[in-house]
Amino acid sequence: MTSASGNPVSSPHKSIAIFASGAGSNAKKIIDHFSQHPFIKVRFIVCNKPTAGVVDIAAANRIATLLIEKEKFFRGNGYADELKEAQIDFIVLAGFLWKIPQTIINAYRNRIVNIHPALLPKFGGKGMYGSKVHEAVIAAGESESGITIHYADEHYDKGDIIFQAKCEVSRSDTAESLSQKIQALEHEHFPKVIEKLLSEMR
Ligand code: GRF
Repeated sequence: MTSASGNPVSSPHKSIAIFASGAGSNAKKIIDHFSQHPFIKVRFIVCNKPTAGVVDIAAANRIATLLIEKEKFFRGNGYADELKEAQIDFIVLAGFLWKIPQTIINAYRNRIVNIHPALLPKFGGKGMYGSKVHEAVIAAGESESGITIHYADEHYDKGDIIFQAKCEVSRSDTAESLSQKIQALEHEHFPKVIEKLLSEMR
């Protein structure tokens, strides 16, 4: 959108693209949270796996899915044009395992957030995802774990931290029981943190 003087003006409406390639439980919470929102809308899901649970969640909630291909994601424009054409303001990574290409990082600097199921900077980096994170936390004898919401940049799990919440790791915890505690924290906080960030961007 441009003003009469030809300068871009920021729209009061904010559109989110959720990048996800797993079960999609966080995507579902975010979709529900914003379904009646006055100015924030989940525009589409970006997914690299046609069989992922998140594709069914998107369909059931009448949200379009953009299925992406590896070759184009990493060698072409990284889908930056498609995101801009759809007027996406903000990208949420919710269980998306591919590294975000530089074209998208540049186009959306400080407008891409990721959620990580541990207290960064511990237990992050390449290969640290899913139950591997919780197994590592338990093996290290940690007494607490939690979630980290952070800006995504060109490095895995390294961008500035926006929010953390903690939970206890008890001696009887398994990777499975710990993952349930972490998931509850993610579902409680992720949509609210996104809403706060987008409200501040208006
Ligand atoms: C979450 O644990 C998140 O922290 C991580 O990937 C998982 C996605 O789970 N980045 P779901 O697909 O949202 O259920």
